[in-house]
Amino acid sequence: MEDTVATSSDSMTAPVFEHPDRNLAMELVRATEAAAIRAVPWIGRGDKNAADGAAVNAMRTFLATVAFDGVVVIGEGEKDEAPMLFNGEHVGNGRGPSCDIAVDPIDGTSLTAAGRQNALSVIAVADRGTMYDPVDAFYMDKLVAGPEAHGVISLEQSIGDNLRELARAKGKDVGEMVVAILDRPRHAQLIDEIRSAGAGTRLMRDGDVAGGINAARWETRIDMCVGAGGTPEGVITACAIKALGGFMEGRLAPQSDEEHRKVVAAGHDLDRVLGLNDLVASDNTYFVATGVTDGQLLDGVRRKGPLIRTESLVLRSKTGTARRVIAEHRSDKWLESKA
Ligand code: FBP
Repeated sequence: MEDTVATSSDSMTAPVFEHPDRNLAMELVRATEAAAIRAVPWIGRGDKNAADGAAVNAMRTFLATVAFDGVVVIGEGEKDEAPMLFNGEHVGNGRGPSCDIAVDPIDGTSLTAAGRQNALSVIAVADRGTMYDPVDAFYMDKLVAGPEAHGVISLEQSIGDNLRELARAKGKDVGEMVVAILDRPRHAQLIDEIRSAGAGTRLMRDGDVAGGINAARWETRIDMCVGAGGTPEGVITACAIKALGGFMEGRLAPQSDEEHRKVVAAGHDLDRVLGLNDLVASDNTYFVATGVTDGQLLDGVRRKGPLIRTESLVLRSKTGTARRVIAEHRSDKWLESKA
């Protein structure tokens, strides 16, 4: 019988980290779990603000218990527009590491309100002062793929060239390549170009954080995620991609005259291609996501008799670990809880 257990001669058994230290993401996951659970009553109810509000409240309550000093770089807007998890707000109990934090209590608020698949609750954290601050830039062109893409693809190349080069690096035919892209009128030409190059598309209604992560993971059918999506979601995705060892580039892509004016006035260079280190300079990033509704990346929140089951992805760049955390929560405790 073949020995399937790692032995002392395996590289798997020789940790390269002298002192295993704290994985902040293992604590942050409680906040995305709480946000996802609290969003559940709003799934399919047609009210995306109510779903988001419930998730924000729960996330905020749980973040307050985590030992870190976080400043929200990407939150639910400026203070005047959103009273909770606003940009610049301090979160955590104030003790422990100083961090930037990006929150998306629900990526896919419309999906949640409609009862559709692929909504996630997400948090990303990095060392203080290392996350790209999008200010008034709402949209960004993104190019995300797995580790094979380093030095192979770029936003400065055509999509056709990118597909051919990445296919070669992955030892595939272009005809086997699959590209995730938001299903938006602004992407009509890009979608045509992908198909003309011979690749297939997976059109996403919403939620390009999950699309980007799926493009960077080896066990999915998605090879690349492209197109213009939210800049905040781009920075969050970058924290995950660092942990996965994948490739990502972004370039600001304002979608209205007003956004264009503001972005230029803020001093942004619209031609600049932002690499992974521009989007998040730290090599110490954490990413957590919990499924709200079922999706390709994660199962959504499920009732199992007296239990509530959640599935989360927990990533850490320093160690390169990816964990799937399945939690079973006693629903009677959640009925009592104020979070
Ligand atoms: P929300 O949950 O805030 O609605 O964001 C969903 C989302 O699909 C993001 O994943 C994506 O980056 C962005 O919206 C795309 O924006 P738009 O819907 O304007 O094309």
